[in-house]
Amino acid sequence: MSTSTTAQSAALFDRALDVMPGGNSRTTVWHAPHPLYAASGSGCRITDVDGKQYLDFLNNYTSMIHGHANPVVAEAVRRQLELGTCFAMPTETEIVLAELLCSRAPGFERVRFTNSGSEAVMMALKAARARTGRPKIAKCEGAYHGSYDFAEVSLDSAPETWGNADPNAVAYTAGTPKSVLSDVIVIPFNRTEEAERILRAHADELACVLIDPMPNRAGLIPAATEFLEMLRRVTRETGMLLVFDEVISFRLGYTGAQGAFGVTPDLTTLAKIIGGGFPIGAVAGSADAMSVFDPRQGKPLAPHGGTFNANPISMVAGAAAMELLTPNAFDRLNALGARARDGIAHAFDAAGIDGQVTGQGSLLRIHMTSVPLVDYRSARATEAQSRALAAVVDFMHAHGVLMAETGLCALSTPMGEAEVDEFIEIFAAALASTGQPRHAAE
Ligand SMILES: Cc1ncc(COP(=O)(O)O)c(C=O)c1O
Repeated sequence: MSTSTTAQSAALFDRALDVMPGGNSRTTVWHAPHPLYAASGSGCRITDVDGKQYLDFLNNYTSMIHGHANPVVAEAVRRQLELGTCFAMPTETEIVLAELLCSRAPGFERVRFTNSGSEAVMMALKAARARTGRPKIAKCEGAYHGSYDFAEVSLDSAPETWGNADPNAVAYTAGTPKSVLSDVIVIPFNRTEEAERILRAHADELACVLIDPMPNRAGLIPAATEFLEMLRRVTRETGMLLVFDEVISFRLGYTGAQGAFGVTPDLTTLAKIIGGGFPIGAVAGSADAMSVFDPRQGKPLAPHGGTFNANPISMVAGAAAMELLTPNAFDRLNALGARARDGIAHAFDAAGIDGQVTGQGSLLRIHMTSVPLVDYRSARATEAQSRALAAVVDFMHAHGVLMAETGLCALSTPMGEAEVDEFIEIFAAALASTGQPRHAAE
């Protein structure tokens, strides 16, 4: 790919290799033979350092819900820059964003800010352990929750390692201590009976169940209502906390995934869209569950520090971005998401190629299989499916559309029907150019 059209990116990557392992600081931006380097972004378009423009259907992995360089967010940040960017003192900006979040979802009585979703998940799990006095956490097989040791267990377990219907706890990072694996109980996503049986068997030791109601890495399949209701019922009956990871899924609507799915957890982790394009994370929840962070009576049960927690730049950017997200803005964005999913499904049909699209609201994920997808195991791509998807994604990139290598796409508010239709047209061309029609494989 290092042709003249990517020469500047290739040169930057060569420089980067001398100072960073693999040339970067973020595994997910790696793209063979080298990543494309961004120069600037405006609205739903990005320009790379070689001057090529892209329609951005990835939006920094779902976080840039207003696209790039939104003028309202930029103005709020400019004003705050003049006033100072962080202090060893709290500021009113933190209260403003906390009030805004608490006004949105019934489960949010108290909020605390972190600098990333990974930190938010770590603090939520520590809070659950502190609140219950129990050591273990339960999570779904294949679900991504950031880089805390306990949260990444069984993120990429494979048929050789995942075990039977009771999933094994499988290490993700080399060197993960065995003690971490033994403190994580893995449940199958959307398999209500199996998951309930496993949770009840370990109930005495479990502090919480951590669940993303539409886990991207596990297929971006919405949780079945009966699955979430079972989790709410079992956690209540057994004294565990129910923790929703809405780092991505908070963009499903004005009241987040918990509003869309009608289940209120005890704790919720947030990040991405609530920072308006700046580093952020948050734990929100009931006053009771969040009381473990309260320092007023001396050392809290769950001490929580962080040099840049609630830094005013992230707070004002987040508040500006979230205020733009009215119920009407979500309705419009989600209708565009539905248009995109319909268009993709239609393109697969018209091309006679095995494939489907999952997701909800402004999120979608493309899969190169027609097999019904329920959970991580059914959604995990075979090698042939991965190759077929890679060909589609490469075609999309070459024709000026950015999306994740996993098939994940996220829409943004500067988009309209024209941009969605542009995406679908290029996607249909990608299938025509790279796809194996169903009858050809038979
Ligand atoms: C569901 C989920 N949880 C947690 C995280 C971690 O968030 P961050 O990248 O801000 O650390 C992510 C990141 O993509 C995520 O998708």
